[in-house]
Amino acid sequence: MRKTEFYSLLTALPKAELHIHEEAVLSRSTIKTVYKRSFNKEMTAAEYDELFAYDDLAGFLDSFIKIQKYFTNINDLELLFNDFSEYLEKNNIVYCETFISPTSHLKKGWDFSQMMELICRSLNKIKKEHGRTVKLIIDVSRTFGTENAMNNLDLVLKENCPEIIGIGLGGNEVSGPAKDFKDVFEKARKAGLHVVAHAGEVCDSQSIKDALNILKAERIGHGITAVNDEDFIKELVQNQTCLEICPTSNVFTNTIVKSFKEHPVKKLFDEGVNVTINTDDPTFFKVSLIDEYWNIYKELGFTLQELKTLIKNSFKNSFISDSAKKKYCNEVEKAWNQWFDEHPECQKELS
Ligand code: ADE
Ligand code: ZN
Repeated sequence: MRKTEFYSLLTALPKAELHIHEEAVLSRSTIKTVYKRSFNKEMTAAEYDELFAYDDLAGFLDSFIKIQKYFTNINDLELLFNDFSEYLEKNNIVYCETFISPTSHLKKGWDFSQMMELICRSLNKIKKEHGRTVKLIIDVSRTFGTENAMNNLDLVLKENCPEIIGIGLGGNEVSGPAKDFKDVFEKARKAGLHVVAHAGEVCDSQSIKDALNILKAERIGHGITAVNDEDFIKELVQNQTCLEICPTSNVFTNTIVKSFKEHPVKKLFDEGVNVTINTDDPTFFKVSLIDEYWNIYKELGFTLQELKTLIKNSFKNSFISDSAKKKYCNEVEKAWNQWFDEHPECQKELS
């Protein structure tokens, strides 16, 4: 299928995204605005380009945190949510579980309740104006140590905000092993929160095993190094552990995957691993959710039917009720049939 038809089909299909960092969906104009408000001068083109000149995970994470520091007023988060709302609209994402990383903001002295008030107001607006549902997973972060992560969790528990459905563990897995966060995750689980963790993004399969066994993570962010461990792949298949795969992110961070063509998601899928497709950090990796589906179709040979399975997988592995999962999957099927009815010339692609 040609690119224009593919994008038309993918735009018509309702989608979910399970691994995306809300702070990583921001426009050039938002970055320039908050920079100006922070430093009282215009950002130069060279400074802008410099923000995106990284070639590994650590370099990218530095830029991620640097931009968060440009935000000097809680109300400026509204700009971020306007960008996020546009992203959801453009990609027809009807349900999203997004990470929010509060640590950099809290270090500036921001009040967690005030942040959450603005964030929840923004989410209600997205729901009311666009009918799109966004739930929050608070990234307690491995970058700033165990005490900071526990502090983040305690703020979440005190806040008791219904939009927050879980916690996650982002940051560089090289410097923050899962075992350091055992107590944080145990406390979160006991309080009824969902728990997920980045693992196997740059460290080997033991890191994924630790996230599953020590933290009891319900889904794994990335998990691509599982591909080098055949016995572990069998375990993942048997347990139907969900991997939140972010293909372009892995190419950008340039550790396990050096080019898109060598991404292991097709091998994992073919072996029966429960994978979903996500973007991680759209602005930083210059990719949208529809782009990712196009990339794996074009570069890795996924068929259209397989893409439909992946789209449904994202709903099935989300933290919504079984009846909501069923409803969304039916809507995918309906939109699929309608699109092909309207594009009979493309039906040959299905055989
Ligand atoms: N935070 C934002 N993006 C991330 C990634 N790819 N890995 C770890 N932490 C992150
Ligand atoms: Zn991530």
